Amino acid sequence: MLETTATPLAPTGDLQARRMVWDLPTRFFHWTLVVLFSGSFVVALSTSEHSPAFMIHMLIGLVLAFAIGLRVIWGLVGSRPSRFGSFLYSPGALIRYVKEVRSGRDQPSAGHNPGSSYAIYAMLLLPLGLVATGLLKAAGQEWAEELHAVLAYGMVGVVGLHLLGLMWHTRRHGDGIALAMVDGRRPAPETESIPSQRTWVGALFVLLVGGWGLALAGGFDAATRQVKLPLTASTVQLGEAKDGKNATEHAQPRREKHDDD
Ligand code: HEM
Ligand code: HEM
Repeated sequence: MLETTATPLAPTGDLQARRMVWDLPTRFFHWTLVVLFSGSFVVALSTSEHSPAFMIHMLIGLVLAFAIGLRVIWGLVGSRPSRFGSFLYSPGALIRYVKEVRSGRDQPSAGHNPGSSYAIYAMLLLPLGLVATGLLKAAGQEWAEELHAVLAYGMVGVVGLHLLGLMWHTRRHGDGIALAMVDGRRPAPETESIPSQRTWVGALFVLLVGGWGLALAGGFDAATRQVKLPLTASTVQLGEAKDGKNATEHAQPRREKHDDD
């Protein structure tokens, strides 16, 4: 259900109590996103599109898409604070929140506040847009190139806001919130804290993302620049094949190499 206001913390005592709110799957996902997004970004800017190293940029993107897919599932079935339903705010709630912040009347909330919620949805959707436009560009759709760059720098902007928001919150409330994605704890009333860190699901997340990454790397053919998608019959084209021809359309079966090519 769309929330119209943030859940304020109980006014006394509770304010400084750090309680377990972010389970391990959510925390592992957070740092996976940080490392993969930053890694893919740095590789894109430091290598040429035609160099073999650029393939790493795209392979990282495919691992990131898989990790976001798992986070989406966790957003439906995970611990309460990690579920999308618990941080789905109406635009009106966002506007009210911004007004409250400007007038210094905002209350710290137990989970994501309306401001951070919108940033979080953006930080999940923008990388998916990057993968989609990246694959289109790799399949020869030139129009996707500019959009890809806009989404990449847009994501950097939202990450900047995310970090500024954390710094601002820390200055204002001094409650150690920046560590919340490290130890899972943030100020929250007893009723909002989660009973279990879901360690086994966290381990499964690491295994699945690691397994997907290894399988992608194993199914990548540097000569044709095609990669087999694990668990599916599809193959994805990541740029021009080494023989100089843009082998096939994206996601088509592997093309046989002919002598007269
Ligand atoms: C590329 C950099 C980053 C990205 C893309 C990113 C993205 C995100 C996302 C998507 C969430 C929501 C988590 C979820 O519900 O799945 C989040 C929350 C959070 N992130 Fe980051 N993050 C980045 C860097 C950082 C850094 C460097 C820190 C620590 C200093 C940090 C601390 C946090 C904290 C504490 C929260 C939870 C805030 C709260 O309790 O409301 N993030 N971040
Ligand atoms: C499977 C996923 C992806 C594919 C196939 C892909 C493909 C590409 C291609 C072909 C280019 C070269 C465009 C050009 O300059 O001609 C490119 C550039 C770039 N990509 Fe990706 N990409 C993917 C994911 C990502 C992700 C996840 C990020 C975010 C970190 C990203 C950020 C960038 C950046 C910053 C550039 C350079 C843009 C510029 O300044 O021109 N890409 N990508």
